[in-house]
Amino acid sequence: MKIAVLYGGTSGEREVSLSTGKGIIKALKNKGHEVIAIDFSPEKIKDILELKVDLVFLGLHGRFGEDGKIQGLLDMLNLPYVGSGVLSSALAMDKAKSKQIFSLNGLQTANSKTFDVTGLLNMSDIVEDIKKHFPTPFVIKPNQEGSTLGLTIVKNEGQIEKAVQTAAHSDSTILVEDYVQGREVTVPVIGQKGKETPLPVIEIIPKNDYYDFDSKYKPGGSEHIVPAKLPDNLTDRLKQEAVKAHQLLGCEVYSRVDFIINEKGEPVILEVNTLPGMTPTSLFPDSAKEIGWSYDDLIEKFVELSQL
Ligand code: DAL
Ligand code: MG
Repeated sequence: MKIAVLYGGTSGEREVSLSTGKGIIKALKNKGHEVIAIDFSPEKIKDILELKVDLVFLGLHGRFGEDGKIQGLLDMLNLPYVGSGVLSSALAMDKAKSKQIFSLNGLQTANSKTFDVTGLLNMSDIVEDIKKHFPTPFVIKPNQEGSTLGLTIVKNEGQIEKAVQTAAHSDSTILVEDYVQGREVTVPVIGQKGKETPLPVIEIIPKNDYYDFDSKYKPGGSEHIVPAKLPDNLTDRLKQEAVKAHQLLGCEVYSRVDFIINEKGEPVILEVNTLPGMTPTSLFPDSAKEIGWSYDDLIEKFVELSQL
C-alpha cells in the first residue's frame, strides 16, 4: 500500500512524535509498503492529496494530532486514516470530559475540578478555590496535553501558583485532581470496533518519583513489568475496564488506557490515549511483544484493522 505517515507536528509532544514516527516508518517499510513520511503542518495537506495515498498513518501526539482536528480534516478530504475518529479523539484528549463519561458509567476516577485560566487573570481566586477543595498532595495538569507535560504533584500549598502557571502554558483549562497513591499500570486495547481485545497489562516502575517525561522517554527511565504481577481478578478487571473505556469513547483500532491501582487495590482510570507512544521506550509495543508480536507486526495489524 501507499501510506503517508504524518509525524512531528507542532504540539508539545513533537519530540515524542518524531520518535514514534520513525518507528512506524521503518516498520511499514519492513512490511513492504511504500511510505511517504511527512513532518506535518496543515499546509502539507495539499501534498498528501496530490500523492494519492491509500491510507494515512498518524504518528502524531497531542494537539492537532490526537485531538480530532486532523481526523476531521482527513474525513472532509475523504482520506482514510488509522485509529480513532473525530469525536472519540476529542473526548479522549479532554481529560475532564472523558472522566465524566467514565464515572457516569461506573469506572472509578480521581475526584477533580477544572479551572479556566485564560490570561491567568484571577490567579488569587483560583489558588483559594484550589486550597478549599483539595488537601495536599494533589495534581495540577493541563486538561488537554500528553506525556505528563505541564504536570505538577503539589505537595504543599506554596507550590500552587507556580503549578497553575506551568499547566496554563499548555492549555487555557487546567485540571486539578486528587493524587491517587498506588501502582501505575496501563492496558493496550486493539481490535475491530465492538470486538476489541486487551493486551497484557503493564506495570510501570519509574526511576523518578512518578512516571514523568524523563521516565517515559529516557532509555532506562522506567522499568516495565509485562505482564504486571497482579492477582488474576484484578488483571481481568483492568482488562475489562480498559476495553469498556475504549468503547465508551467510541475509539477505533487501538488505544492505551492508563490506570492507578489505589491503596484499596481498585483501578482508578486516568485517561485513554488514542495515539499512544510507539517510541523505542513505549509501553504498547512492549505489551505486544509479550504475546509474540514484533513492533513491525503490531504496526501491520493497525493497518489491517484500518481497512475493515
Ligand atoms: N502521550 C504519549 C505519547 C502516550 O500516551 O504514550
Ligand atoms: Mg496521555
